[in-house]
Amino acid sequence: MSGILVAIDGPAASGKSTTARSVAVRLGYCHLNSGLLYRSIAWCSLRDGWIDAPGRFGPELERLDLTLERRDREFLVLVNGEAAGRGLLTAPETARRASRVAAMPEVRNRVLHVLRVTGEEGGVTCDGRDIGTVVFPAAELKIFLVASAHERARRRILEQGGDPAGPAFYEEVRSLEERDLRDANRSLAPMIPAADAIQIDTTELSPDEVVDRIVALALERGAEPVDECPDFA
Ligand code: C5P
Repeated sequence: MSGILVAIDGPAASGKSTTARSVAVRLGYCHLNSGLLYRSIAWCSLRDGWIDAPGRFGPELERLDLTLERRDREFLVLVNGEAAGRGLLTAPETARRASRVAAMPEVRNRVLHVLRVTGEEGGVTCDGRDIGTVVFPAAELKIFLVASAHERARRRILEQGGDPAGPAFYEEVRSLEERDLRDANRSLAPMIPAADAIQIDTTELSPDEVVDRIVALALERGAEPVDECPDFA
């Protein structure tokens, strides 16, 4: 066995991807960030002008070459062989559009396929909204991270070097809540904890405390730290 599968779901800015990355490093696993796939599709379709073109969206998506390339313990998303810069993928407009395209069945099917092909061997931490429910329902460990919208907005603004007491704070709370609502209420793969997920409220916890808890749970569920990532070639 090359390792267990750790699914980490939760709302926007709940610390999923930072946590999933740190857990992967501690276990010697790789980190698969599913949100980057939705963001990359949103970025490319915005740039090339077919995001709002219903007649073009399906055929353009079908033509899109969507692949993951392993870089150390992460995966780079390549769209037609090209990776978007981090700034473009994390831009507020990309995030907003990503949560819209993520409600489309054809987009979810594409992403589902790429995630399963890459992660099914295990030895992976995968974060998103539907990882424990839809993508890897047999994952050995499922975590659902939560934190209040105010705390998530505060962390996000600090991360961007902003002032959490400034006017941007309420705009960030509003934007996170809007995205959560859309992700939780869509009919396809909504953001809900899997029945067997362990919920961790991170509002009062430090990032290290969250990682320690998840690593301890992963070791209980059969993870054995290894030196190198399994080979996904
Ligand atoms: O996790 P991140 O904020 O990067 O995800 C961007 C958007 O992609 C989310 O708002 C959500 O709509 C969508 N997403 C999803 N399912 C996932 C991961 C992300 O619907 N597994």
